[in-house]
Amino acid sequence: MTYLRNCWYMAGWSDDLPATGGLARTLLDDPVYLYRDEAGVAHALFDRCPHRFAPLSKGRVEDGAAVCAYHGLAFNGEGRCVRNPHGPVTRALDVRAYPVAEAYRALWVWPGDPALADPALIRNLDFLSNAPDTAFNKGYIRGTGHYQLFVDNILDLSHTDFLHPDTLGGGSITRTSGEVEERPDGIIAMSWRPTNEVPIPLALGRLPAGVDRVDSWTEVEWSAPGVIKLVAGAVPAGTPRELGGNSINVHIFTPETATTSHYFFASTRDFRLDDAELNEETRRTRQHIFETEDEPMIAAQQERIGDADFWSLRPALLKIDKGAVLVRRRMDALIAAEAKAA
Ligand code: FES
Ligand SMILES: [Fe+2]
Repeated sequence: MTYLRNCWYMAGWSDDLPATGGLARTLLDDPVYLYRDEAGVAHALFDRCPHRFAPLSKGRVEDGAAVCAYHGLAFNGEGRCVRNPHGPVTRALDVRAYPVAEAYRALWVWPGDPALADPALIRNLDFLSNAPDTAFNKGYIRGTGHYQLFVDNILDLSHTDFLHPDTLGGGSITRTSGEVEERPDGIIAMSWRPTNEVPIPLALGRLPAGVDRVDSWTEVEWSAPGVIKLVAGAVPAGTPRELGGNSINVHIFTPETATTSHYFFASTRDFRLDDAELNEETRRTRQHIFETEDEPMIAAQQERIGDADFWSLRPALLKIDKGAVLVRRRMDALIAAEAKAA
C-alpha cells in the first residue's frame, strides 16, 4: 500500500500513552512502539527488535530506553542501541525511530524522512487544547476500512440523513446544495441551510428552550492526510447565524493497514462551556453513533471493495461526492509528488 509518508499522522491521544508502560500501534502497516522517558517525552520505535525480531512493546522501559524482553538489548528514543549484554554495542544493533510530537492533546508520528519532520507542519488545532475539560470530549475507534473511506464519510454529510436519521440527520443536507472550495492547504465543504427544519437531537443543547424550527450549517475542513475539522450549528429559524452556538469537532484518520484505520474524534463547543453533563452526553452519543452506524457501514463497504482499487470499480459519482473526490485527487497528487521526489 502506498501512503503519503512525509507528513504527521495522529498516533493517539496524549493520555493513550501513560507515564510508564507503552503503546503498541500499527501505523501505515508499520508496527510502532510508543513510550515515554523519565521526563515524560514520547518516543516511537519500530516495534521489532533487530536481533531476533521480538516486539519491543513486550519489554520494559529503563532509564529512558526500551529494553527488549527477549535478550536484553536496550534502545534509546533515537533508536540507538545503548546496551548489549552479550557483546559490543554497534550501529548494526540500532532500530528505526520515528519523529514524534505532542500537540493539541494528541501524539503525532512522522513516518517519512526524519530530516523533514517539522512540528510546525502539524495542523493547528488549538481549539482542542484551549477547550476547558468540561467542554472537551474525545473517543477512538479502530475501524475496518481504508482510511479514505472514513474521510469520504465526513466530506459527504448527506449520509447523516440516511444512516443517522434519528440523531444527526434531519434531511436538510440532502435538500440543499453545499459549496466546496479548494485551498492550497486543504479542501472545505460548506453548507448553510436556511430551511426551517425540525432541529436534530444533538442541536437541542445549543438552542433556547422550546425552539422547534431551525436553520443550520456545517463546515468541513480537510487537510492531508486525514485531519478534518467539522463545525456544525443551528439557530432558531430566521435568526442570523452569528447568534448561534457551534459544535467544533475533529475527525482524524490514520491508516493502520490498507483496510483498517484509526479513527480519532473529539468535540468542543462555544456555548455552555461549563456543562459537564452535556459534555458527557455529547461524548456518549457520538461514540455510539460512530461505533454502531458509521464504522459498520464502512466495514461493509470495504468488504464489497475487497482489495480492488477504489477507482478501478468505477464508482457512480453524485453531486454529493464533490468534496470527497477532490480530497482523493489531492491525496493522489501528493503521493505522486512524493514518489517523484524520491
Ligand atoms: S530479540 Fe531482542 S534482544 Fe533478542
Ligand atoms: Fe456518520
